[in-house]
Amino acid sequence: MKNFIPFILSFLILSCGKTYNPAVVSARKEASDIGVEIMKKGGNAFDAMIAVHLALAVAYPIAGNIGGGGFVVYHTSEGESGSLDFREKAPGNAFKDMYLDENGNVIENMSTLGGAAVGVPGSISGIFEIHSKFGSLPIEDLFQPSIELAKNGFIVTKKQEEALKDKLQDFINVNGSESLFSQNYKQGDTLKNINLSITLDKISKNGPKAFYEGEIAEMIIEEIEESGGIMTVEDLKNYNSVWRDPIKFKYKGLDIISMPLPSSGGILLGQLLKAIEGYDIGQFGHNSVESIQLMVEAERRAYADRSFYMGDPDFNKLPVYELMDDEYVNSRMASFSWDKATLSSEVSHGEVKTIEESDQTTHYSIIDADGNSVSVTTTLNTNYGSKVFVEEGGFFLNNEMDDFSSKPGYPNSFGLIGSKANSIEANKRMLSSMTPTIVLKNKKPSLIVGTPGGSTIITSVFQTILNVYEYGMSMQEAVNAPRVHHQWVPDVVIIEEGGIDSVKDSILKSKNYFIVSLPIKSDSSGMSARSSIGKVDAIFIDENGEVSTGADPRGDDHASILK
Ligand code: GLY
Repeated sequence: MKNFIPFILSFLILSCGKTYNPAVVSARKEASDIGVEIMKKGGNAFDAMIAVHLALAVAYPIAGNIGGGGFVVYHTSEGESGSLDFREKAPGNAFKDMYLDENGNVIENMSTLGGAAVGVPGSISGIFEIHSKFGSLPIEDLFQPSIELAKNGFIVTKKQEEALKDKLQDFINVNGSESLFSQNYKQGDTLKNINLSITLDKISKNGPKAFYEGEIAEMIIEEIEESGGIMTVEDLKNYNSVWRDPIKFKYKGLDIISMPLPSSGGILLGQLLKAIEGYDIGQFGHNSVESIQLMVEAERRAYADRSFYMGDPDFNKLPVYELMDDEYVNSRMASFSWDKATLSSEVSHGEVKTIEESDQTTHYSIIDADGNSVSVTTTLNTNYGSKVFVEEGGFFLNNEMDDFSSKPGYPNSFGLIGSKANSIEANKRMLSSMTPTIVLKNKKPSLIVGTPGGSTIITSVFQTILNVYEYGMSMQEAVNAPRVHHQWVPDVVIIEEGGIDSVKDSILKSKNYFIVSLPIKSDSSGMSARSSIGKVDAIFIDENGEVSTGADPRGDDHASILK
């Protein structure tokens, strides 16, 4: 009865015509404002999604893109949920050992820098798929704000100045010193991208073919060939996005909807929440020794499974719900002890019984007045992707090929290792960690959440869910709270600044946990330099339908809400 009253209340309020305050949370104010403006003009959350995606491609070129790919998870006001996979694919000429030299060693930077790193981009296909299924405004109206933004320019922020400076030499090496991004931009500069505005205008008028065939496709292939790549015009022409059944599971009465393979995100999120469900983690307290131990031990086991079992479901027969089965997850946690850390060297992937048939990325969350909820994570992979800039088109190309396993056991840019399931094959999709997620409470949207951060995406989404539902934080507090991450290998617990005090640090160390405190400048344990974990952009809707937002202060992220 206790749980029934809020359900009845929210049902009555929402069925009496109360609508939600439309909101967008994304990596840039320009994009969030454009999304809300589209909804003000009568567009729905899917229309807003398209406009936000394009605005990020202009004003957030580090990860916003038309030369990359991503995933959408949605839940409609009619109660339908689903996902769209517009992930990049390997070119048709790709092959298993393409990044190895004659001695079988991985050639440094080949899967990350230059044309050979580029996967066939999916974003434009994804945008048009979404529009044909759910769009309510003309596509030209959704492109127009970004065409204008590219033409008039956006203001470079301090963080953008630093990120651009960090990659300046790569831009010069790959694209020459005259290239648009091979210049020294400072905070406050207006960065105009006229070629991108022309490209967007062409696509808006002529549809996805304008990108995947004809002159833009030829420009892409030319840039890729010049910098050592193997993609062909046929690869672009043959690209397709795929509607997939999302991952669905319950956690303590909440319904969770997340991204299926080729993202590992949904399955791992399910494994993690199921592994801790039997414990009252809320009582342990946020970032207490107990809660960190429990999360880390669940993460260690889940990431070991990731490395062995996961890849493109269109190429392999892979376990999905078997890995999230309660009995299986509990058996994996059987070796967990409160006394001391399990060593990752003692943990391998589990044995599932049967296999049934079956700072680099960016995330944005949207809700419209009717309650349509959209969660999108999109990426070029690492910052500015392959650094290959299609000069005449005004956009960067991804380096998503690095998300494949170049060689069994060899770590990618995120320290993740893989096996046969994620080996390189022609036209295959590389395994992802992106975890766009929607949580329903009493069948209504309750949380729309996701984040960039490579391997740390899954654990950041996991903790944001716990922060809201176990620790009772507001949306903004849940996003701000310091995060903790473990991914099996390397066997380190990464903790953001302010995440734990020295007493907890000593207790965890005494239990054999190897702690790396952020920020770190250089590689002390196999991890690259980094200052923070994830940039979560999320929306919370309470049981009365009140919308609140969390824009991550780790970036320039911004929430726009229509009151
Ligand atoms: N490129 C990062 C990911 O997809 O996980």
